[in-house]
Amino acid sequence: MPPETLQGQSQMDSEKIILRPIEDTDVDQLHGLLNDSNNQQLVGGSVIPRSRNEVLQWLQAKRSAGDVCQFAIETGGVFCGYVQLVSINRMDGHATLGININRQFQRKGVGRLALQQLHDFARNKLLLRKILLYVRSDNQPAVKLYLDLGYQKAGTLTQHVKTVSGYVGVEIMEFML
Ligand SMILES: CC(C)(COP(=O)(O)OP(=O)(O)OC[C@H]1O[C@@H](n2cnc3c(N)ncnc32)[C@H](O)[C@@H]1OP(=O)(O)O)[C@@H](O)C(=O)NCCC(=O)NCCS
Repeated sequence: MPPETLQGQSQMDSEKIILRPIEDTDVDQLHGLLNDSNNQQLVGGSVIPRSRNEVLQWLQAKRSAGDVCQFAIETGGVFCGYVQLVSINRMDGHATLGININRQFQRKGVGRLALQQLHDFARNKLLLRKILLYVRSDNQPAVKLYLDLGYQKAGTLTQHVKTVSGYVGVEIMEFML
């Protein structure tokens, strides 16, 4: 059977994506993702262009942080983004979520599946109770996905982020695992 492609595929089975550690060999894909200024603005990251070496340093800093778990999202053997938990607080049982998917893999069901797998990991391996996140109020795809998955709005930071079209708010959302 020929390998299935993501092209034109709207639904995915959970087996079609895996979460795995990010390897140094992912650096080229990661370099592209971290230099996509559109995505970087949505994840609240730096929009200053980064060299391959700076991307490796970014990766190394995440790996050595004691309160971070970061995974590559892979489908069909291809790196298509990453998902992470930062500020992991084992005492209180919560962590802060981040997700960033390469534009060519968006809107194919990858984000939904990756978050469901991350929830299982957070619940069963990290023994966390709750995930929280910050999302720009104008990031409708992300807000819709989080609401679909059962996240609830916990508050709004008004006029919090400077954009080319003015300040926008940030929603704080939480999900009980
Ligand atoms: C936001 C993001 C994680 C969503 O992942 P994705 O793989 O593109 O989303 P999925 O294909 O799994 O879609 C799941 C649901 O999200 C919503 N959604 C996703 N993209 C959407 C879009 N462009 N417009 C409207 N809703 C959208 C829909 O509810 C969708 O369900 P549906 O297809 O049944 O309507 C991903 O697009 C991304 O990484 N974007 C750039 C970075 C970013 O915004 N990160 C989040 C910062 S808080």
